[in-house]
Amino acid sequence: MRIMFATLIFGLIIGCSGPDPTQNLSAKEAFIDSLINKMTIEEKLGQMSQSTGHWEMTGPVVADSSNLELTRTGRLGSFLNVIGAERTRIAQEIAVNESRLGIPLIFGYDMIHGYATTFPIPLAEAASWDLALIKKSAEITALEASASGIHWNFAPMVDIARDPRWGRIMEGAGEDPWWGSQVAVARVKGYQGEDLSSLETVAATAKHFAAYGAAEGGRDYNSTEISERNLREVYLPPFEAASDAGVAAFMNGFNDINGIPATAHDFLVKQILKTEWGFNGLVVSDWASVQEMTDHGIAATDAEAAALALEAGCDMEMVSKTYINHLTEKLALNPSYLSMIDEATRRILGVKYDLGLFDDPYKYSDSVREARVVRHNDHFKHAREIAKRSIVLLENRNNTLPLNPNLRKIAVIGPLATDTETPLATWSAQGRQADVTTILEGIKLAVGTDTKVLQADGCEINSQDKSGFKKARGLAKQADAIVAVVGEHALMSGEALSRADIDLPGVQLDLLKMLKETGKPVVVVLMNGRPIAEPWMYENCDAVLETWHLGVQSGPAIADVLFGHYNPAGKLPVTIPRSVGQIPIYYNHKNTGRAFEAQDRYTTKYIDEQHGPQYPFGYGLSYTEFTYSNLMLDKPSFHQGDSIIVNVTLTNTGDVPGEEVAQLYVRDLAGSVTRPILELKGFQKLMLDPGESSTIAFTIKAEDLRFWDRNMKFKSEPGMFKVFVGTSSADLSESEFTLLD
Ligand code: GLC
Repeated sequence: MRIMFATLIFGLIIGCSGPDPTQNLSAKEAFIDSLINKMTIEEKLGQMSQSTGHWEMTGPVVADSSNLELTRTGRLGSFLNVIGAERTRIAQEIAVNESRLGIPLIFGYDMIHGYATTFPIPLAEAASWDLALIKKSAEITALEASASGIHWNFAPMVDIARDPRWGRIMEGAGEDPWWGSQVAVARVKGYQGEDLSSLETVAATAKHFAAYGAAEGGRDYNSTEISERNLREVYLPPFEAASDAGVAAFMNGFNDINGIPATAHDFLVKQILKTEWGFNGLVVSDWASVQEMTDHGIAATDAEAAALALEAGCDMEMVSKTYINHLTEKLALNPSYLSMIDEATRRILGVKYDLGLFDDPYKYSDSVREARVVRHNDHFKHAREIAKRSIVLLENRNNTLPLNPNLRKIAVIGPLATDTETPLATWSAQGRQADVTTILEGIKLAVGTDTKVLQADGCEINSQDKSGFKKARGLAKQADAIVAVVGEHALMSGEALSRADIDLPGVQLDLLKMLKETGKPVVVVLMNGRPIAEPWMYENCDAVLETWHLGVQSGPAIADVLFGHYNPAGKLPVTIPRSVGQIPIYYNHKNTGRAFEAQDRYTTKYIDEQHGPQYPFGYGLSYTEFTYSNLMLDKPSFHQGDSIIVNVTLTNTGDVPGEEVAQLYVRDLAGSVTRPILELKGFQKLMLDPGESSTIAFTIKAEDLRFWDRNMKFKSEPGMFKVFVGTSSADLSESEFTLLD
């Protein structure tokens, strides 16, 4: 196809007069240049427009007739939500065979934690601290999607989130810029591989650019007021990492940043992304965020909104139609728009070229491969592996866990134990409830044949009705142990699903208190899309597992941990507050001039809440114990351009093998601006047998200590630093070093 296509275009060019326009250009540039030279303005604006497929009562249809007509006349370049080899092929045949230039469509879709095999939510996977398995989830997502006609994933979501009221915290990697950057790269590489034209990879999208997670009040879509320094220090690093990793696309955020909507933020997109970072992929708006600039009140008309977005470097308009409807008239008034329209078209055609769509527009729409690949059993095996590694053991009093799988009776109580919707969470793409193994089913599969498993909901997820307590109490009293499955429904986190409180909904806490009164051991299995603030639960129940929303293999993964078939090693990628009133609360905060001192009234604190979180960033227990010793630096100081080696000995002092995530933090004691009291700069995850020790070495380079200084220059400054290594951000051994000029 590419040869045919290029020949056609080439032939047209050669037929024209003038020098060979392809001298000294790459094949890709020559091809795109020759194509752009053929295109009308309306066809270019068509490439800059994306419509959504939609679902009828009978299920997904390709698209409505108006969008198919736009496709037929070359006025549409992309669809989202057109799913499957068959439907994408139908739409593609219209574009390629009926439009004047036959430019292939690109099909996008949201697959942030799986296409058809649903994996743990991204926040859960971030708790695994296993970059290889996080990448593998992305690879499998791309494998299934690319067999189903999907070329482009609107993922990874790389927004840093410090406010768990925000429902979309479940979509990202938590609160830390460094860890968020590592996870962003793993996911981009997983989706895109080393070759976008491969049949098994898809284009990825870094979203939502930028600082969408800083929405005031944690209320989705709300405004963000943020300094450039905070923007660059906290919210931009994962985006820059994704850009450096070669992500094919960026997506604007819905939010306005200091009064300018992200979709019209030319400093953010044209200066930082496209100039400073040299990003040459495409930028797509988020849903109707172009048209929503009239709602923001920064554009009086759709035509003005289109102009603002184009001027700010938004290359493709999702869903709304301001580009195709108004930019022709805007161009007539402002000829400088032609170069912007050409650049946007070039970026879009570039992604299609890299995907190989000009070679074979149908290669991803392969029903035979789709049937063979999608929901393959190997993918379910991976889903269980990554799910069990995403579980964080928060409490285990008196070694209540692991449970003996041959107990006489286990009571499984709680409204989420049999739920098949919640493990899939929101953004479940083509995930199916029928594929979910519930917590109850997972437990039944794991226990001995003589063990009796009793079950009752006890209450609903979010109601005040306690009529189910009586039955639940009766079963609990018969049991040797109680597994209480509580938390949030799938639709309590995700887009447009922020909460004003982050406690257990309904009467679930009362259910736990009732179960505790029976005197039986109570093991809490918490299923949630955000940190849950519920001190009584954490401080009174015998064991607590943070299991998030773990996807299709939730049940077996949780049972693996409950019965000790897997020793949990998850670590929190986000702080768990004691109360919603503490928000925002995160580990890498500033010291202030009056750091907390319990005995000193005039220090930073609340008078009606304990100081500090319920659980800190990086926290997670194991069924074994680890000790850190012999923290040593290979030198007391080093110069710019040099590095230092930090060694520590890790020992498994417990009775069972286990994995530990050893974390490395630094603190810049005095900078030209105030600096966080801790910054994560590395980790190592290793398995140790009982009694085994291992020496871990970390390298800190001067460049790792850079920050945006008093003059907004990104550089490291000479001075004293502390270095920390340990099992969480609140449990560390420390030493110090000096960075010299
Ligand atoms: C949504 C989301 C975005 C998603 C897009 C397409 O509103 O904000 O993350 O990729 O629309 O579904």
